[in-house]
Amino acid sequence: MKDFIAIADYSPEQLQSMLDLAVELKKEWKAGGNRPLLKNKVLAMIFQKPSLRTRVSFDMAMRHLGGDALYLSPAEIGLGKREAIADIARVMSGYVDFLMARVFDHEHVVEMARWSDIPVINGLSDYNHPCQAMADALTIQEEFGNLKGLNVAYVGDGNNVAVSLLHICTRLGANFSIANPEEYDLAPRAIALARQFANESGSQINFYRDPVEAVKNAHVIYTDTWTSMGQEEETKKREKVFPPYQVNESLVAHANPNCIVMHCLPAHRGQEITDEVADGPHSRLFPQAHNRLHAQKAILVRLAGVG
Ligand code: CP
Ligand code: NVA
Repeated sequence: MKDFIAIADYSPEQLQSMLDLAVELKKEWKAGGNRPLLKNKVLAMIFQKPSLRTRVSFDMAMRHLGGDALYLSPAEIGLGKREAIADIARVMSGYVDFLMARVFDHEHVVEMARWSDIPVINGLSDYNHPCQAMADALTIQEEFGNLKGLNVAYVGDGNNVAVSLLHICTRLGANFSIANPEEYDLAPRAIALARQFANESGSQINFYRDPVEAVKNAHVIYTDTWTSMGQEEETKKREKVFPPYQVNESLVAHANPNCIVMHCLPAHRGQEITDEVADGPHSRLFPQAHNRLHAQKAILVRLAGVG
């Protein structure tokens, strides 16, 4: 695989092997012994939207691996406006070793990959967020050993984060339940792919409107913002629809007593998640955020073909 654009592009074996590599790299880092596997390599990071985790964890990933990273802000490149994506991709291929792009339109990162000679990593699009899903799977694996047979319940908007979580769960044999309001369903093409992956892995997929139904027996409860970047004009409308989908202590009480609660962050405390849950005993929000670093190191090393 030249690029990392979607979880769906990778087989269960490839995904598991990248997760195993992330575990190994995390162990080495903990022991104080990062290997310079990407010495003198440079990652350029193109952002059309804001970021804390993706920006800093990719930058630190490159430093840990002996390389460097360049940040290109939304104002700088004018992706598809100042310059065609195909031209940007071909220019950058002569300067740096990897591209990471956070875009509005998923097709833009796909097009970038098509025109680049170097690996392109999707740092979030309107369709999916595959780097997040790798960190999510690593976090779940650390807690429960592996994903096979676990019940993962996503509560909230059927958005980009939900799509990648659905795909990594069904690829790796976890059951996936989602509770979301009408009109905020997962993308049909994401569901079609997930059904195919579930047939292969034995996962079950369940769709609910009622969050209580979705979290019954859940080992993992996952939520995300009600309004994603690029949807800001819908904020008011969404704030009316989503309150029944808040992850609070009373919802968590319906899940497995040993469940963990996850959120890709940034969190809107008091909206999709309460302080009590975000800071409570079930929360894994911060280990999950920290795992972005280790998961992305594995993605970079694998794309470079050096580990
Ligand atoms: N979860 C995540 O991608 O966070 P950022 O938007 O801060 O990068
Ligand atoms: N669904 C959110 C995730 C942010 C990391 C968004 O796209 O804004």
